[in-house]
Amino acid sequence: MPTIASLMTTPPVTATAGEPLAAAVRRMHDHRVGSVVVMEGTRAIGIVTERDVLRATAEPGADTRVAGVMTAPVETIDADTPVQDALSTMRERGYRHMPVTDHGHPVGVVSLRDLMRVASIGPAEVPRGLKGVVVADTEVGDVRGNEGFYHYRQYSAVELAERRPIEDVWRLMIDGALPTSAAERAAFIAEVAPLRVIPDAVSAVLPAIAAASEPLDGLRTALSLAAATRGLRPVLDIDARQRRDDALFLCAVTPTLLCALHRLRQGHAVVPPRSDLGYAANYLWMMSGSEPSPAAARAVEQYLISTIDHGFNASTFTARVVASTGADLGACVVAAIGSLSGPLHGGAPSRALALLDEIGSPERIDEVVGPMIERGDKIMGFGHAVYRTDDPRSLMLRGVARRLTAATDAEPATRELVAFAEATEAGVVRLLELLKPGRQLRTNVEFYAGVVMQLCGIPPEMFTPTFASSRVIGWCANVLEQAADNKIIRPSARYIGPPPPQAIPPLA
Ligand SMILES: CC(C)(COP(=O)(O)OP(=O)(O)OC[C@H]1O[C@@H](n2cnc3c(N)ncnc32)[C@H](O)[C@@H]1OP(=O)(O)O)[C@@H](O)C(=O)NCCC(=O)NCCS
Repeated sequence: MPTIASLMTTPPVTATAGEPLAAAVRRMHDHRVGSVVVMEGTRAIGIVTERDVLRATAEPGADTRVAGVMTAPVETIDADTPVQDALSTMRERGYRHMPVTDHGHPVGVVSLRDLMRVASIGPAEVPRGLKGVVVADTEVGDVRGNEGFYHYRQYSAVELAERRPIEDVWRLMIDGALPTSAAERAAFIAEVAPLRVIPDAVSAVLPAIAAASEPLDGLRTALSLAAATRGLRPVLDIDARQRRDDALFLCAVTPTLLCALHRLRQGHAVVPPRSDLGYAANYLWMMSGSEPSPAAARAVEQYLISTIDHGFNASTFTARVVASTGADLGACVVAAIGSLSGPLHGGAPSRALALLDEIGSPERIDEVVGPMIERGDKIMGFGHAVYRTDDPRSLMLRGVARRLTAATDAEPATRELVAFAEATEAGVVRLLELLKPGRQLRTNVEFYAGVVMQLCGIPPEMFTPTFASSRVIGWCANVLEQAADNKIIRPSARYIGPPPPQAIPPLA
């Protein structure tokens, strides 16, 4: 494996802390590099990357000198570090650029992108399931597992769920910016509302699809037809404007299709969308045929916002792989739904409710859950592959559940379920600490998602479809990003079968 000396950009493009940021940015452009090293004499004291510049330009009144935006102090890396070691360091620390030094003197800059390129050519070992491997640059969002934080673009996802309607977040994901005025919000809502309507050709075959499959599986078939009916073309052949229109259509029609498929499967008539209702109220209306309370609509809306995106999960990756081949947006979303439908991904918040049912009452928590943990069973709704602290979605949804109990018209059963869920959470966390010390196991999104959806009248069979109806926005945001700067995603596999070529045996 080569060292980073052979890969770095040398000499480094540099700046001084006191100079105007604009001058440093110009130098970055002239040299076609993504960062400048900030020097004090012969010492590297900081680094400014394109991201820092973007952040600074987004903040009105930000310091316009290099010193105001640089990351300092900066960690440097030795020129004879092997590429694989440098890659691990940069991934662990979350760096995209690092100044390279030789005997303490800055001699270049290495970027994560350069390292990835070489590492993929060599016989690099990657962890099973690509765990922790960076496979794309994205501005859509990210998850910081150790901090219990995730974000959509530059905003905390939880804060967006607390403070904005879903249409604002939808616009943020697709167009890259929140609406800045009531008029902008209204324009977006007016644009997407008519797209909720199911095309006639699809309506005609929905009963047959509903009879044959559960709503999430039926959605694949229905969306394929909807995409064809609307004439969606390969993302490779259309411009950004058309890709955006296709994305809005798929995001808008998905909840309508899911509710229609659910109602038909239950033997009820389809309830058409209402353009006078907000996204979540309309969703519950189409599912149940009755208008939800404002509290229920808002609770579901907050759940939907919190599940729009969550890092480079399996379905998002799937959508991007398909987009990278240039296929149409319908194909990308249908593939992503297939990925989400697997139990290891889309899961089932209903499993957490089933646990509550099994426990039955708070005094039985120890007697039911204790032996399960001792047997090595996984307690549903607890633990997470990325979060090593509280899952921020779980904390938010617990707040949503509490607010539902505080509503003046809350049923006693609502209060009881939330109190029981909270007692179970406390009891199970205590047991896990006792029996699995040091593993940091807390509730995950599924625990309170099931509770909130049940309280809002969503039946368990619609839990995962409800997740899909918001996640489609995240998939589309990722597809648009992939299509805008595409490179086909085509990794390799290591062949471990019998050594070829061998003689093809004759038929007996
Ligand atoms: C989500 C999940 C798959 C993450 O798994 P992971 O990060 O790979 O965690 P690990 O399987 O490495 O678990 C680490 C330890 O904690 C234990 N653990 C993890 N989740 C647990 C749970 N829910 N109940 C009991 N023990 C659990 C594991 O048994 C393991 O113990 P060990 O060190 O004695 O072997 C796992 O926590 C789980 O199966 N949870 C229940 C299912 C669920 O709620 N899924 C929805 C996720 S959003």
